[in-house]
Amino acid sequence: MHARTHFTLALTLGALLPMQACAATQHAGTTEPEIPGYTMGEQAVRKAPITLGELEEIQKSLLMSDEDIRYLRMSRDVLEPHVEELVGVWYGFVGSNPHLLKYFSSAAGEPDAEYLARVRARFERWVLDTAEAEYDQEWLDYQFEIGRRHHRVGKNDTDNANAIDHIHFRHLPALTISVTTTLRPFLERAGHSAAEVDKMHAAWVKSVLLQSILWSYPYVNDGDF
Ligand code: HEM
Repeated sequence: MHARTHFTLALTLGALLPMQACAATQHAGTTEPEIPGYTMGEQAVRKAPITLGELEEIQKSLLMSDEDIRYLRMSRDVLEPHVEELVGVWYGFVGSNPHLLKYFSSAAGEPDAEYLARVRARFERWVLDTAEAEYDQEWLDYQFEIGRRHHRVGKNDTDNANAIDHIHFRHLPALTISVTTTLRPFLERAGHSAAEVDKMHAAWVKSVLLQSILWSYPYVNDGDF
């Protein structure tokens, strides 16, 4: 597709996708309005197939330390006022890349605006969950649910969408780089030093890679994860 067409498509998507009011300030288990399909902490979410101890082992391999967790938590206040704009940038990236947009589209290639909007609200909540970096059982269980939602075992079910039913694995870890590169300018917005911005960014790269590893579970042969 032509570069100009990419741009037009991104703009169209922006217009198609009104912000989900308040999504970024909601928390599971409070009286605030629910985010459609956000089920962290609910009994319906299956128990993770790995233990919290095994999660820590992956974190060790990623050199993810307490310092990273401190910097992730520092990023929360930096990002919270901009979370809608940030997710808008990510949606612009997906919308301007036909090889990604197709996963939000029908087999005939028609993007599903309602599906995009519902997922967007959960994506905004995910930014804050990632920055909170509370690696408890609820968080771990929900990671495997997010993995299922990218794979044919669970994609589309949450939103009753009629899109292509499976995201190919090859794109999952690759998106770590575009997500964390486009995030970086947002980390600079609260006047932290360049060294602090670097550390927040490095911690985000580790966290998104960690999550894309956990989300890979349904793609891996039984017993091999
Ligand atoms: C590092 C890589 C990725 C990140 C951080 C990411 C993030 C997310 C998040 C936070 C959600 C919502 C989860 C929830 O239901 O609570 C989601 C769902 C979704 N993502 Fe990704 N994603 C990644 C890779 C991809 C790729 C490569 C695609 C391909 C276009 C994609 C397409 C989708 C779709 C279609 C959904 C909705 C799935 C459903 O039917 O429930 N994602 N993603």
